[in-house]
Amino acid sequence: MAKITTAVLQKMKQQGDKITSLTAYDASFAKLFADEGVEVLLIGDSLGMVLQGHGDTLPVTVQDIAYHTRCVRAGAPDAFVIADLPFMSYASTEQAFASVTPLMQAGANMVKLEGGDFLLPTVQALTERGVPVCGHLGLTPQSVHLFGGYKVQGRSNKQADAMLRQAQALQAAGAQLLVLECIPVELANRITAALSIPVIGIGAGAGTDGQVLVMHDLLGISSGYIPKFSKNFLQQTGEIRSAIRQYVADVKSQSFPAAEHSFQ
Ligand code: KIV
Repeated sequence: MAKITTAVLQKMKQQGDKITSLTAYDASFAKLFADEGVEVLLIGDSLGMVLQGHGDTLPVTVQDIAYHTRCVRAGAPDAFVIADLPFMSYASTEQAFASVTPLMQAGANMVKLEGGDFLLPTVQALTERGVPVCGHLGLTPQSVHLFGGYKVQGRSNKQADAMLRQAQALQAAGAQLLVLECIPVELANRITAALSIPVIGIGAGAGTDGQVLVMHDLLGISSGYIPKFSKNFLQQTGEIRSAIRQYVADVKSQSFPAAEHSFQ
């Protein structure tokens, strides 16, 4: 795989070439994913649930993400690697400066943070200092207690308009990528069309510029609640490498996500 950069991702959006992304936490899976053409590897704080066995992502630390970022980078030298900033590690801009340092030094190309307006000065300050930023709107799991559960976001016109405005503000502040999680297809399409930066969806329909899944959901090994937007590709293919190949092919051809994985 040729080296993936923000410029490559930007060009993919312009050319309508769908971006594929998966969470990754170790070198072996990172290598397999990169070999099969997955462009973006995300060291998600979902590792708190799928690796550490917690009920939510809140216990994850910057050190946890840094450790797994180093592992993923070792396995996939040319992939585009995004490291999640965990809960309360960017509550202030100064705190964000301290938190991004070990993540970028571990090999991340970009950091991802959850939220809208309160983050604008932080996004601007990070990008001005050379740290690329990915925003994350919609069902932002670090706010699960505020939302009262893992629920679809942006259903009312007021919420939808606010999310579109926040997406535009994040882009204006310097964000170079945006994740939209668990929102209605129409809203995801509106935001994707309104932004010049690539938009990666999870539970946001097939109209975004790319897709991301938690690898354990794709392989059908997540325990407990399985979100409607995920799909077990291993069940269909019976072999891990083929499952990843099928995911990439289905995202590229827009056959995943289908209507049954999306919210109206
Ligand atoms: O932590 C994570 O894995 C994520 C994805 C679900 C987008 O943020």
